[in-house]
Amino acid sequence: MKNILLCVTGSIACYKALELLRLLQKEGFDIKVLMTDSAKKFVTALSFEAISKHPVYDDLFDYEESSIEHIDLAKWADLIVIAPATANTIAKLANGIADDLLGNVVLATQAPLMLAPAMNQQMYKHITVAENLQKLQNRGYDILATEEGEQACGDVGEGRLLAPEVITSKVVELFAVENKDTPHVVITAGPTIEPIDPVRFISNHSSGKMGYALAKSFKALGAKVTLISGPTNLEIPYGVKGVDVKTANQMHKAVHDTINRADIFISAAAVVDFKAEHSANQKIKKQDQDQSKMHLSLIENKDILKSVSLKDYGEDKRPFCVGFAAETENAEQNALAKIERKNLDLLVLNQVNTKTGYPFYHSNNSVSIYDGTKTLVQIIDDAPKEAIAKELADLIMVKFSCYAQKSARDKEKGANYACN
Ligand code: CTP
Repeated sequence: MKNILLCVTGSIACYKALELLRLLQKEGFDIKVLMTDSAKKFVTALSFEAISKHPVYDDLFDYEESSIEHIDLAKWADLIVIAPATANTIAKLANGIADDLLGNVVLATQAPLMLAPAMNQQMYKHITVAENLQKLQNRGYDILATEEGEQACGDVGEGRLLAPEVITSKVVELFAVENKDTPHVVITAGPTIEPIDPVRFISNHSSGKMGYALAKSFKALGAKVTLISGPTNLEIPYGVKGVDVKTANQMHKAVHDTINRADIFISAAAVVDFKAEHSANQKIKKQDQDQSKMHLSLIENKDILKSVSLKDYGEDKRPFCVGFAAETENAEQNALAKIERKNLDLLVLNQVNTKTGYPFYHSNNSVSIYDGTKTLVQIIDDAPKEAIAKELADLIMVKFSCYAQKSARDKEKGANYACN
């Protein structure tokens, strides 16, 4: 996970920094906020603290014995974003003035700096501001443009803070360039629903949380992510390409539309195994059934994971395939059989508690992870699903990179590798 220090300086556009913080968080970044004294006159530190879940940093002299704040922050940050940046801050930074926490952090860091100016259109046009921005740009700062439009003072012109969405996409782009070799990850998530008639369907308890959390974690690692999801109440993570489906057949088609361009396939969906042989065009009526019994003929759905992991890719690369298993009994034995049957490179086993339903309806989960040689590689016990997703994404990246190197070397398609 990348760390961003968001520095907020005293402009009327300060309130937009709250939205920026929220959007950057949605991208999976860990954000700490630094405020100058004048910024605190526009927005309270409490608002940033509540969203960032970190204290706001504002005092140069507020340090404990074992830590010096500006040095710690300077080292912690992978990127420093100054938004909004006032004419005063820009002038101070251009001249190396370090009379507050921001000035000190900026001098002490080796992280890249991105700066989004915000000021009155006349000030923005002033030669001093233009010279200072040029100076900072020459030093390697990423100076963002401003927006044109109506300003708080009633003037119209250049100098408005760039929209938080645009700043967010610049940050994402910056890390994506850094990670341009990271893979395309295709993830299935949520349940499928299989119609019986226009008002009834077969489905299961899947919430989709794990698949969505994985999509967010891979995005934060800089990967290109496609999330193919059955119906859930969740929002597609920012920057992830979402494809909505309902039935297993639709999910199968969506997966195969994209799988040839995928490097990693993660099958987190709870695909319904059987569907109605004939889904009725009209609502099935009770009185049409014999002796208060109803017989529903079910046929098997395609196994999407198998159709990917066992596909003949010819000269193309086979994606690294990760499956999930939710078992109520003989968990390990069933899981190991699944690795073989489904030709998997990694399997994540959930033990479902028959009484409590755990992990369904719980925010926590416990998983055991096996590789393609059926070796237990990791156990994660009773942790929040988001934390599990982060650990899993890191592990999958490591295993995938080994798999990709080995398959390139051996030119052997479809084999399982033990990558330790
Ligand atoms: N899976 C799939 N398509 C199906 C059924 C399952 O892609 N039609 C995938 C799931 O996404 C999961 C893995 O296969 O990654 C294992 O799913 P699971 O339901 O545990 O196994 P099944 O193959 O359905 O076997 P069983 O229900 O007998 O345990």
